[in-house]
Amino acid sequence: MESPIRVLVLHGANLNLLGTREPGVYGSQTLADINAAIRAHAPTVGVTIVDCIQSNHEGVLIDAIHSARDTADAIVFNPGAFTHYSHAIADAVRAVSPAVVTIEVHLSNVHAREEFRRVSVIASACAGQIAGFGATSYLLGVSAAVSVVQASRSR
Ligand code: DQA
Repeated sequence: MESPIRVLVLHGANLNLLGTREPGVYGSQTLADINAAIRAHAPTVGVTIVDCIQSNHEGVLIDAIHSARDTADAIVFNPGAFTHYSHAIADAVRAVSPAVVTIEVHLSNVHAREEFRRVSVIASACAGQIAGFGATSYLLGVSAAVSVVQASRSR
């Protein structure tokens, strides 16, 4: 049997406030609700969630990305607003690739919002981006991680 696919879930800036933060845009689920949904979905697609980490600090996210080299096959990552300007985070994602595959996810459809949100400086370092499906974006991200990691294992 194939070894389980290990996924680190990373949430960036302001996502600790989900539930009360702009519910019209981000929904009413809390971060704990979303993490519980991810943890429930993961085993159904052969994934072990190694950790769910949220930070408002760029350096903490970078350190978590570096640590994933030892613990994870993939990262499902919502960088929050760091998406739009953090070249340091993009470089961290590149630094651990291709051993660790990153899938960028967003709750909202960033392409249908303000101009600045249409640009991701991180997306080009990732296997792909999923945006606009609320908490389901994370579940799709976990499933996308499975298909990318399985494809690389069969090469
Ligand atoms: C977000 C979109 C970003 O533009 C925003 O800064 C966030 C959340 C999303 O999940 O839709 O914090 O990443």
